[in-house]
Amino acid sequence: IVGSGPSSKVVATLPSGESVEVLLYGATVTSWKSNGGKTENLWLSEKAALDGSKAVRGGIPVVFPVFGPPPKSGHPTSSLPQHGFARTSRWEFLGKTTSEDTLDSNSVKLDFGLYTTGLSDEARKAWPLDFGLVYSVTLAKDSLQTVVNVRNEGEKNFEFQFLLHTYLKVKDISKVAITGLLGVTYIDKVLNATEHSQSDASVSITGEVDRVYAGIPQNTTSVVEDGTPRFDVVRDNLQDTVVWNPWIEKAKAMGDFAPDEGYKNMVCVEVGAVKGWQKLEKGEVFEGGQTIKSLV
Ligand code: BG6
Repeated sequence: IVGSGPSSKVVATLPSGESVEVLLYGATVTSWKSNGGKTENLWLSEKAALDGSKAVRGGIPVVFPVFGPPPKSGHPTSSLPQHGFARTSRWEFLGKTTSEDTLDSNSVKLDFGLYTTGLSDEARKAWPLDFGLVYSVTLAKDSLQTVVNVRNEGEKNFEFQFLLHTYLKVKDISKVAITGLLGVTYIDKVLNATEHSQSDASVSITGEVDRVYAGIPQNTTSVVEDGTPRFDVVRDNLQDTVVWNPWIEKAKAMGDFAPDEGYKNMVCVEVGAVKGWQKLEKGEVFEGGQTIKSLV
């Protein structure tokens, strides 16, 4: 653990130079470098708050137990803030596991926990259910795996949504194509939440994009830059993926989004379970996550 107080983080490095940094606040991955430590794969705003004062703008914020604005009333998550409390709670560091098979298959796993007892009084009051989250971040030579394990620790059944709000770093958004979504139905939040079907083989980003692709049959969504594969995002037990880029006006309007032109260097590919609700009975466990492969 580096530092103390609200900005403390866990840093892990492989002998070959790759590294990952995770803030205890939100268990937010704020940096992932591959290619011997030379290539940063995650976009992080220059004005991201890293002191625990608000959710981090960039990296991989963890969204739980509700995605987006919660249902207006009548749902157990209705009093929670947008994207829930996981990204704004301080998680515990549970430890590090290193595996050293050969130099090339080295990996390091960092585990983080968030339990009912770790919530602010406000969050606890808004969602008075007993749960345990264990979040595992595994750094390997060319990939980063992030997996959550959700456990119902209480007597009552509960339901939740979960999403990994990954900000991928790209060189030039005008050359980016997102593939692996052909034929999938999506809700377009930019077009009054209307439903559409992905009819092109790739999604290019030429304006504000905010789409929730749901029930995706294939496991992998890829980011291609200038014709070259850049990232594979592989879903594990998660069927939905949000594609988001705020574009010019929305980027400017966000106080913690910097520089203004930063929208050209990022795209969010956010895997999750956000269509409907995941139900957990007493003692039950849900596990889901992603493996992101950096392909350059
Ligand atoms: C995306 C949503 O997941 O997150 C967008 O689909 C939202 O609608 C974006 O604007 C950022 O949310 P926030 O709360 O981090 O500003």
